[in-house]
Amino acid sequence: MKRVITFGTFDLFHIGHLNILERAKNQGDYLIVGVSSDQLNFNKKQKYPICSEENRLRIISALRFVDEVFIEDSLELKGEYIEKYDADVLVMGNDWVGKFDEYKRVCEVVYLDRTPSISTTQLIEIIKS
Ligand code: CTP
Repeated sequence: MKRVITFGTFDLFHIGHLNILERAKNQGDYLIVGVSSDQLNFNKKQKYPICSEENRLRIISALRFVDEVFIEDSLELKGEYIEKYDADVLVMGNDWVGKFDEYKRVCEVVYLDRTPSISTTQLIEIIKS
């Protein structure tokens, strides 16, 4: 059984999120999703996501093709998470091309194309304006 792992914030869940998770699952048989914590987002962007980590985690875990979820507390722990969850494949969006190549030592690393013309940031901007 091929185990796939991927990571993200998944705030204001949208079609780009659905597409990448569905395609991530298609890379193997079992999909594990690390949902980044509120604190991790704050540290990275100086603002908290709109939806709490608890709610973001619940939304992701309710998807038919997601098998397991956990809260990602630190960007630096990717290697540890890959090991802990015994992942064979790491999937990331192609906004990260090359950035995770160091994990090719421990698993397959696959970058999937993002869905064009949608992002959480853009949704927030549209709603604001
Ligand atoms: N993603 C995607 N297509 C999009 C938006 C996101 O494939 N149009 C993917 C990202 O590449 C990542 C995952 O969805 O693998 C979670 O991304 P996240 O950063 O949570 O979503 P964004 O919409 O990119 O959020 P933001 O605008 O805050 O960066």
